Amino acid sequence: MMPFKRFSRRQFGRIAGWSALGMSALSSGSGLAQSDADSGPRNRATPSGFPDGFLWGTATSAYQVEGAVNEEGRGPSIWDRFAHTPGTISDHSNGDIATDHYHLYKEDIQLMKSLGTKAYRFSIAWPRVFPEGAGSANPKGLDFYNRLVDELLANGIQPFATLYHWDLPQALQDRFGGWTSRDTSKAFADYAAHVTGRLSDRVKHFFTINECSRLVHHGHEFGADAPGLKLSPSDVKQVRHNVALGHGLAVQAIRANGRAGIRVGPAENAVSCIPAIETPANIRAAEIATRELNAGYLTVMLEGKYTEAYLAQDAPKFTAEDLRIISSPIDFVGLNVYMPDHYVVAADNERGFTLAPFPKSFPHMKATWLRPGPETMYWVPRHVAKLWNVKSIYITENGTSSSDQPAADGTIYDVDRIMYLRNYLTQLQRATSEGVPVLGYFLWSLMDNFEWSDGYEQRFGLYHVDFETRRRTPKLSAAFYRETIARNAVA
Ligand code: NOJ
Repeated sequence: MMPFKRFSRRQFGRIAGWSALGMSALSSGSGLAQSDADSGPRNRATPSGFPDGFLWGTATSAYQVEGAVNEEGRGPSIWDRFAHTPGTISDHSNGDIATDHYHLYKEDIQLMKSLGTKAYRFSIAWPRVFPEGAGSANPKGLDFYNRLVDELLANGIQPFATLYHWDLPQALQDRFGGWTSRDTSKAFADYAAHVTGRLSDRVKHFFTINECSRLVHHGHEFGADAPGLKLSPSDVKQVRHNVALGHGLAVQAIRANGRAGIRVGPAENAVSCIPAIETPANIRAAEIATRELNAGYLTVMLEGKYTEAYLAQDAPKFTAEDLRIISSPIDFVGLNVYMPDHYVVAADNERGFTLAPFPKSFPHMKATWLRPGPETMYWVPRHVAKLWNVKSIYITENGTSSSDQPAADGTIYDVDRIMYLRNYLTQLQRATSEGVPVLGYFLWSLMDNFEWSDGYEQRFGLYHVDFETRRRTPKLSAAFYRETIARNAVA
């Protein structure tokens, strides 16, 4: 843990520029059919600002922040098992305590409030609700989310709940082989039905699965995330199909059990394809690439079919009914946007595009995988809106880690994070001002947390967390975000 000089609220307010604003830093059949009923911003943004009513929020996930892994009847998840397996986490840590959000949620909601956010995206831990994954529910598990939701609403913050952010009950991994079996897809729908039946009187927005793509590849192909499997290419495609099926079954279960007016969609880290140069030919090529490279995720969810190229190799086993379920109508698409996956150039080849290799000199943020490419924040929602006629989009995650060293005066001047956010938000503003229907933005993350196999070494928070004392302290980026929200324009 790095040494950290504490400073008073007044000092921080001065440093961060909040006093000048008179604010205290700490005071406080085809998936194409969409309901389009969100009451979000519809008017275009002003030349420099975001649309009126644009929803600003922050995001976290259960295993990364909650801790309390053995409390009130929670069962073990595949991440408990994985993190406790030697050699899996770079700093040998785990999420046993994490940020202790389970006990400190009220304090954390005050942090959200002090930023001026009006929405919070969190995830529900399936093994809290069903310790064995299925069968008997544990009412105490859901009680935590009842308390959380009530406290959010009492503070004027809308809850956006993700049903699955990778913490599969270990019992389902043991019993069915987890997502290698469609029994897990069905169990997911039962859990989704149970939760929506009990929370949808207050929670109006549900995300089914967070980043199908990462849970499939890192968890089942590279072995870098739980459950740590390294499957064959055809088995990986089957897992991907089962996950997509789980999404579709959950959409149906949520509709059948939720109150009227409930909205549902995925939160996907779409493979991002950026025109290398913004010519009409390259833009078209980037659209084609987006559709092909997301064939197992957004394309099948929104079109109800796999592309020919996708089925040409290692095709999964599926039925026509599966495709109908996977493409059950959704109300919005959630997009986690971090970096350009590919710069695309139009090509006179069978695919119609070339993916430009990244030169070794391409820059990265603190995490070496995180290549900054702010225009990703423009192109991903634009492609999704155009390709599939999507009418409502949320940016469900965006952010970066930073080395976050406190300066001599004790402040964390995380200006690399501010640089990153400013550039991405400028591109988001470009998108909304052109009418791309993005209704809100959730910054990842409210606070430093357990960054999966990177343990606590990659800090993504606007708030620094001292993992010994659990004390939260705002970084300079918290002031940047607060100012952006207050102006409804990039600060
Ligand atoms: C996306 C994941 O949803 C989240 O859990 C993770 O912490 C961030 N990316 C940063 O890597």
